[in-house]
Amino acid sequence: MERFVDIINKKRLGKQLSDSEIDLMIAEYVNGNIPDYQMSAMLMAICFQGLTEGELTRLTLAMRDSGETLDLSSINGIKVDKHSTGGVGDKTTLIIGPIVAACGVPVAKMSGRGLGFTGGTIDKLESIPGLKTSLDNGIFFKNVNELGLCVVGQTADLAPADKLLYALRDVTATVQCIELIASSIMSKKLAAGADKILLDVTTGSGAFMTDPTDARLLAEKMVRIGNNAGKQTIAQITSMDEPLGFAIGNNLEVKEAIRALRGENISDLMEVCYTLASHMISLGKEIPYEEARKLAEEAISSGRAFDVFVKMVEAQGGDTNYILNPELFETAAVSHEFRAENSGYLTFTNTAGIGVAAGLLGAGRSKKDDPIDMSAGIVLTKKNKDFCQKGDLIATLYGKTSDQCQSGAKKFGECIALSPKPLSDNKIALIGDVII
Ligand code: URA
Repeated sequence: MERFVDIINKKRLGKQLSDSEIDLMIAEYVNGNIPDYQMSAMLMAICFQGLTEGELTRLTLAMRDSGETLDLSSINGIKVDKHSTGGVGDKTTLIIGPIVAACGVPVAKMSGRGLGFTGGTIDKLESIPGLKTSLDNGIFFKNVNELGLCVVGQTADLAPADKLLYALRDVTATVQCIELIASSIMSKKLAAGADKILLDVTTGSGAFMTDPTDARLLAEKMVRIGNNAGKQTIAQITSMDEPLGFAIGNNLEVKEAIRALRGENISDLMEVCYTLASHMISLGKEIPYEEARKLAEEAISSGRAFDVFVKMVEAQGGDTNYILNPELFETAAVSHEFRAENSGYLTFTNTAGIGVAAGLLGAGRSKKDDPIDMSAGIVLTKKNKDFCQKGDLIATLYGKTSDQCQSGAKKFGECIALSPKPLSDNKIALIGDVII
């Protein structure tokens, strides 16, 4: 076997790695035969020298093949998956899944948990009493075939190379490398087995990619990986310059999603949901986007998307009384009204910080196994560019203790500005480019 030190050196010098070198690197790292210090050096060499499209595709496929790959062939129809690079208040899966399923496109979705400033769909769903997100594959497939939709947690054996590499990247300052992000996300998406993939690449102060140029580059690389792997893949850039919708925090977001599914037009949230859902329907039914958009809107106005959500909750063991009567959800012990200290136009200057504030209130975790408080979080009353009079309510913060509310409020206050004119530093429109 070629010595791994020679492969590291090759990349350090900016040369192209062969398919077999990439395969060997991933297989031997997962087997424990390449130590972390050598892999750290390789990751840093990749950060500086980059990867060609061919190398990047091969790396992603090797990572995909490091564990279980799901075979969704027993589910009828074209399966379309969606991935979002995350944000604050992003409850889109809870709304899009039912819309797309109600339009006849099956959604077999594996989602993640929240970490850091972003929330996770699985935590949000688990705020519904009784609902299980850990189902065996047989039940997962059966639910999708019968209802069109099932959302489960990612299994431990999906792309294990990514888990190991991500932990290493976290402590070697190599998380932000666009090639490494692209291979990380796409290895999991490809292992999850859908026929086609829609990527929602968020950008702005509440996104992983704060810079729109980087977001576009990431989107382009992921789209090429997906298509090279034989799965039609498209990406939609969306803005995370402010929290999406009004609610941030687990059961608060489920309650907002229920209102949206019942037809309330929460404007920024629904524009993103309709756009993403329409892309998925267009991919799944092979029809033009405009036609898909009409179907998506009709799925909400007819109540069919809401019905699918209720059925999905029931099939996953959740108590549907909470969906039909959202006032049953547990409410936080303490609340705090955040009011404008002076008059001015509101701007969320640091949206990720709003996610951190929700975390301080108990809604998120800073370590993987931290417990979370399902009723904690923030409900906004005002959004970007809204005018606030001194004393106006900007948001209500919910937590278990007044100390939590105080520290959440302090952080919240650091992440907004009130100015005489609206600050126009929003870098992209709510809906940006589509990358095909
Ligand atoms: N999300 C992922 O899954 N991987 C990354 O590297 C970054 C964000």
